[in-house]
Order: sequence, then C-alpha cells, then structure tokens
Amino acid sequence: MSKYKLKIIEAQLMQQGQQLCAVTGDIEITKEQQIDDEIFLRLDKNGLHVCKANKQELNVRNLYTNFRTRYQKFKSDLIIKAIQDKSVNRTVIDATAGLAKDALILARYGFKVIMLESNALLVTIVYYAMLTKIIPNTNLTLIYTNSLDYLNSHVKLADVIYIDPMFNDLKPALAKKEMQLIQALVQTNTIQDTLQLFNLAYASAKHKLVVKRDNKLPSLKPELPPTYAISGSTVRFDVYTIK
Ligand SMILES: C[S@@+](CC[C@H](N)C(=O)[O-])C[C@H]1O[C@@H](n2cnc3c(N)ncnc32)[C@H](O)[C@@H]1O
Repeated sequence: MSKYKLKIIEAQLMQQGQQLCAVTGDIEITKEQQIDDEIFLRLDKNGLHVCKANKQELNVRNLYTNFRTRYQKFKSDLIIKAIQDKSVNRTVIDATAGLAKDALILARYGFKVIMLESNALLVTIVYYAMLTKIIPNTNLTLIYTNSLDYLNSHVKLADVIYIDPMFNDLKPALAKKEMQLIQALVQTNTIQDTLQLFNLAYASAKHKLVVKRDNKLPSLKPELPPTYAISGSTVRFDVYTIK
C-alpha cells in the first residue's frame, strides 16, 4: 500500500501527477476532498503544495525562493570550501539530500552530485522542482533509497561523501521554517542511525567524508575527530580525509 497521498482534482494534471508518483512508487493519487493524513501533497494549476492537516499549505516554489539569493553567491559558501577536492572526477554523494539545497550549491560549483533521500515526499518535491525548472538539474542525480543500502552496494564510488544529519539533539524551536517542514516529513534519526551512516560513509568515500554539524554540537565520534573543520557562525563542516 502507498504511504502518502497526492491530491489532484483537475483532470489535465493527472498525467503530471502520475509522473510524480512513478518516481518513488510510494505515493498515490487521490481525488478525496477531505484528507485526514497528517501530511500530503496537492497539485493544482499553481503547482505542487505540501499540505499539513489544519495548517497553511506551502507551495514548493516558495520553498526555494529565498534560497536563490544564497545560491548566486555559491563560491563563498563554506560547503564548497569543505568539499573541494583535488580528485579528477569530483563526484559527491549527498547521502542525506533533503530538499537538495546543499546539493544545488555543489552542483552549481561543478561537482556531480548523487542525491540520496529515503523520504518519498521529499524525493517527489525535489523531482518536481527539477522537472518544472524551479531549480536547475545540471550535475544532479536524484535517487530514492536508504543511503545505507546504496553505500553498501556502491563502495568507493564517490570522491567525497557528504552527510547532513538532522540535528535532533537540538530543540526543534531552533529550526528554520523549512527545517520544521522537513522535521514534519521525516522521522528524525537516532544518534545510532546517524553513527551507522557515518561509519559506512567513512568506509565508502574515496577521499573525504564531510559532516554538517551545528556549532553547538560536538563532532559525531569523539574517538575519531575530524581532520579539520570549516566553521561558520551557526554551523560547521567536519572534514575527515581518507588515507
Ligand atoms: C537535515 S536533512 C538534509 C537537508 C539537506 N542537506 C538540504 O540541503 O536540503 C536530512 C535528510 O536526510 C534524510 N536521511 C536521513 N537518513 C537517511 C538515510 N539513511 N538514507 C537516505 N536519506 C536519509 C532525511 O530523510 C532528511 O531528509
């Protein structure tokens, strides 16, 4: 049975709806007027919306509006400094792609980014944004998968692996509006889940593993400190070079 619903009323949008559902196979089209699910998608002539029961809807286009300004200044972004690598292929696996904002900065800089995301709604949102050119799709590959499965079967595929685990050890009140949406969409990872992903990513990267952390939090593994860190005012990137 499908996990999530995509509400479509207008017949002329059915084809696009089917295309969106096919990306994950875990979303089904419904014409129901009243949907009791906590979270679902709705497609109408104004685009794709993320809907939370009894809450304001969010147009996917608006999710990326403010981001464009930052995206234009990508060269100074800390994530570029952290991920930059001398290797030839410049392939990065973003093992926690979310809304693909970090991946977009990397792709814009010229990295080939393989985006892995395990949440069907987020994958559909990002796919829709790429399909409708809300965001560019150059250098980006989106894969609906659990990164643990993917990395287990693609060892040493990427020069760099990047992980941005949910900061579930901080109060949700600190999260930005869009992060609150992500938090509503996904189950937050336990520290054990994150460590499992960290260990596998560390074993799978050819040159580097980069982990985004809130500045208030220590590095993920006290017994394996990062080689160095690139810090901003609120977040930092812990960089582990692989010998
Ligand atoms: C903090 S968000 C990442 C935000 C992202 N860096 C961005 O710029 O939009 C973490 C994401 O990782 C995903 N995630 C967590 N564990 C995962 C796993 N094992 N496989 C794939 N995705 C995972 C969650 O579903 C969530 O969307």
